[in-house]
Amino acid sequence: MSFPIIRMRRLRANEKIRCMVREHHLRVDDLIYPVFVTPGQGVRKEVSSMPGIYNFSIDELLKELQQVVDLGIPGIIIFGVLDEEEKDEVGSGAYDESGIVQQAVQEVKNKFPHLLVITDVCLCEFTNHGHCGIVKGNYVDNDATLELLAKTAVSHAKAGADMVAPSDMMDGRVAAIRQALDEHGFVNIPIMSYSAKYASSYYGPFREAAGSAPQFGDRKAYQMDPPNSDEALRETWLDIQEGADIVMVKPGLAYMDILRRIKDEFGYPTAVYNVSGEYAMFKAAAQNGWIDEKKVVLETLTAFKRAGADMIITYYAVEAAQWLKEER
Ligand code: PBG
Ligand code: ZN
Repeated sequence: MSFPIIRMRRLRANEKIRCMVREHHLRVDDLIYPVFVTPGQGVRKEVSSMPGIYNFSIDELLKELQQVVDLGIPGIIIFGVLDEEEKDEVGSGAYDESGIVQQAVQEVKNKFPHLLVITDVCLCEFTNHGHCGIVKGNYVDNDATLELLAKTAVSHAKAGADMVAPSDMMDGRVAAIRQALDEHGFVNIPIMSYSAKYASSYYGPFREAAGSAPQFGDRKAYQMDPPNSDEALRETWLDIQEGADIVMVKPGLAYMDILRRIKDEFGYPTAVYNVSGEYAMFKAAAQNGWIDEKKVVLETLTAFKRAGADMIITYYAVEAAQWLKEER
């Protein structure tokens, strides 16, 4: 059977029909909001390449989160930001039990016990060289880093984090973190692993926000090579073997093919990270009046769902939640 018996346009005739046959939906429950927290009081410093995104001190973060909770956004992911003089060779701030992330987690969970608090587990925001692990010469020492990542994850769990999300791309980190969490009695704290994380140029604005750019070299010896696709399946498979509960593809836009493959291959709960450079591009075009921001962003976030994402980490979480509310 074909035209004129079949007419695809019949089911596109009006919004009611389109809605009825719509395959994928963006919901507020899909969104995770990334936040940057920094020491001090009354700090609310906008990231210049990310309009609308701030470095907050804990008091200001608590104010900001009220609307996140009111909008029904289920979760946040917390990143720590330190001044240069507070960093060291071994990223001590990452696993300091009274460090900035640990304090923030405690206070956020205190004020908003039902908000899902995820922590990014990495060293790059806390090392003076800006690498995601311990540096020996020019080598980011994989095995020596594992212990510190595990220590970081445990300190987050002790502070009350609901989930930990390792973003460093060291081999074996998921297993090391799982074992350490279990030894400390955190058997029910899930690991969301940044499993297919690429050495991407789209992280530029984040590194400005977090002050975490590597001081020498780049991250290509530990993050994935952008042209690779089969390798993403192996990376993700390994993380699953090591005990990852949720896997992730990062960045999002240029890697939707990877998202689809990973979802199809494993059927695991899959997150996508709509990263800082993607946010910056939309904001820049919107501020120039070149795109309809709301429509373009909602279309893009829905496309992540279509490509296989179960959840979306996005700096647009608050705005998207507001837009979704308007649509009802
Ligand atoms: C830290 C980390 C980065 C991002 C999340 N966790 C930066 C990096 O790997 O250099 C990027 C997030 C973004 O660009 O929005 N390892
Ligand atoms: Zn890192």
